This record gives sequence, C-alpha cells and structure tokens, in this order.
Amino acid sequence: MEEDRKVDLSEALALGPEWRHACHALLYAPDPRKLFGRIPMRFAVLMQMRFDGRLGFPGGFVDTQDSCLEDGLNRELREELGDAVSVFHVERSNYRSSHLAVKLRVVAHFYVKRLTLEQLLAVEARAPQAKDHGLEVLGLVRVPLYILRDGVGGLPTFLENAFIGAAREQLLEAIQDLELMDPGTIANLTIPSSKETQPTMDP
Ligand code: APR
Ligand code: MG
Repeated sequence: MEEDRKVDLSEALALGPEWRHACHALLYAPDPRKLFGRIPMRFAVLMQMRFDGRLGFPGGFVDTQDSCLEDGLNRELREELGDAVSVFHVERSNYRSSHLAVKLRVVAHFYVKRLTLEQLLAVEARAPQAKDHGLEVLGLVRVPLYILRDGVGGLPTFLENAFIGAAREQLLEAIQDLELMDPGTIANLTIPSSKETQPTMDP
C-alpha cells in the first residue's frame, strides 16, 4: 500500500476522479499582547475543535459545484466560520502544500492567510452564528506559540492533542516557515511524536 505523503499541486491536480479534494486554511494575525504581562503572544493562530474530537483547520471538501479549489475553500470557511470571512478571500497565492491520505483517497490542500487582528477578532466573534457551529465545528481555539517555564506548558502540551490528517505537521511547518514563534524558542522545541489520528472512514 502506498504511503501518505506530500505531493506538488500539479501532481495533486492530475489525480483521477476517485480522489476527493479538501482545502483547509490557517488564519492568523499579529497579536501584540503579553500573557501575564511578560510572555509575548506574537500571533493569534486559529484552529478548531472538530466534530470528531480532533483539532484541525477550518475548511473541507471541494464540491463539484465549486469552480476551483479556492472557491470550495472560501465556501467552507463561510459555512464553518460565519459571515466575517466575506471581507477577505483565500487565494492561490496563499497555497502552501498538499498531502495525500491514500487509504481515504483524499488529497488535502493547505493554505495560510494573514489577517489584521480586527478581521480575526471579527471571525471569532461571528463564529458562534456560523451554519456549522455546534455541529461540524465545536469551537475555535488559538494555538499557544510559547513554552512556559516548566518546559512543557504551551505549544508542547498543545501538540499532544489529537489532530486530523496532516494538521499537526501543517501547523509546525507554518510556525517555522512564517517564524510565528521566536526562532530561538523553535530551536529548543522537542516535538512529541504524533498520535495516529487519521480516521479510517467517513462519519
Ligand atoms: N490535513 C489533511 N487532511 C485533512 C485535514 C488537514 N488539516 N483536515 C481534514 N482533512 C481530511 C480528513 O480526512 C477529512 O475527513 O479532509 C477530509 C475533509 O475535511 P473536513 O474538514 O472534515 O470536511 P468537511 O467538508 O468540512 O466535512 C466534514 O462531514 O459530510 C461530512 O463526510 C463529510 O467528513 C466530512 C464531514
Ligand atoms: Mg471541515
């Protein structure tokens, strides 16, 4: 059996009709505040508690009615996060990676979009009115981008949650590539190994 792996977008788009495409987005904004008056929050990064008890990014399956991947993604964001997302669009330029889940015949595309803090706060405020709130989405969470003095509180403990698909890897790559954490802190991060989190079938 072929392994789950990353693929280029061109390879992903050339997959046959038996493959379903899903798109998810990491939305983030600079956050100037300090926790306890001393720990810089740096950025507000949004994830969500999903219906299956795993953490993931907002987004979902692209339908045949969607004219492109990004149309599907923006529609899913609207359903899962509500109408505050209509002031921005996630575009092809925000694309970062694609992961194959071979057993599920799903290819998951990942996007990253920087918002203003005001836009992100509006998304959080409106999310409880979204169509999927309380159903597919059980709530938004922010990712702790720091390590507490005990060496495990903050991001290391957050990473011990269960994540859907490639979400954990996508989060870690984005933290590194976009320097969402202090580079010195990232260098000291010992990342706990991931749990087996991929569902074996649809709900
Ligand atoms: N990385 C990789 N794969 C992911 C990620 C991710 N970050 N997030 C989700 N997936 C995969 C999972 O296999 C998931 O089942 O993509 C699939 C679709 O993503 P969802 O966000 O779960 O899909 P959505 O369209 O929002 O619908 C949720 O309702 O109608 C049902 O069967 C449908 O499972 C789907 C559920
Ligand atoms: Mg979804």
